[in-house]
Amino acid sequence: MKKMIDIDFGSARYDELVELRYKVLLEPLGLKFLDKYRENEMSYLHIGCIESLDDKLVGGMMMIPIDDEEIRMMQVAVDGKYQREGVGHLMVAYAEQRAKEAGYSRLIMHAMLSVVHFYEKLGFEAEGDIFEEHGITFVKMVKSF
Ligand SMILES: CC(C)(COP(=O)(O)OP(=O)(O)OC[C@H]1O[C@@H](n2cnc3c(N)ncnc32)[C@H](O)[C@@H]1OP(=O)(O)O)[C@@H](O)C(=O)NCCC(=O)NCCS
Repeated sequence: MKKMIDIDFGSARYDELVELRYKVLLEPLGLKFLDKYRENEMSYLHIGCIESLDDKLVGGMMMIPIDDEEIRMMQVAVDGKYQREGVGHLMVAYAEQRAKEAGYSRLIMHAMLSVVHFYEKLGFEAEGDIFEEHGITFVKMVKSF
């Protein structure tokens, strides 16, 4: 069974999350996670999804407050072996619940065009023009509540 957890910055679980994000998101693009970025992540909310059978982290993301209304999901990643099993849906639902509880009214993220459909199915809408970073095309996706 999969379950969602909050992850403390600097914990062993946080190291596991950094490794997972690297494997799923950065390595395929030939990018590195530099230790100097760790400090920036201290104030973010880190969440993860674990398989309770073996306590393995199978997915995770960071949540970053933008202002009083808006919070952003970043580096949403599901381990390749567990993709398309509902982990992504579970994680975004949990992120939305956390955002609501904390009083935010907009959950946003920058989605690669290839996964726009995934977020649309979860009630997000594209906003603004598409843009490029590291040679990849993104669009801002927004869900208001
Ligand atoms: C995108 C991602 C977060 C989705 O999580 P997931 O656990 O695989 O998704 P779920 O099982 O909850 O939902 C599955 C649905 O999402 C969509 N989806 C999932 N991965 C997709 C992909 N790589 N491309 C297109 N659609 C995708 C499909 O509609 C799929 O439904 P289907 O199986 O009926 O076709 C995950 O696949 C992932 O980490 N991918 C690699 C990294 C990435 O692209 N991150 C997004 C950064 S912008």
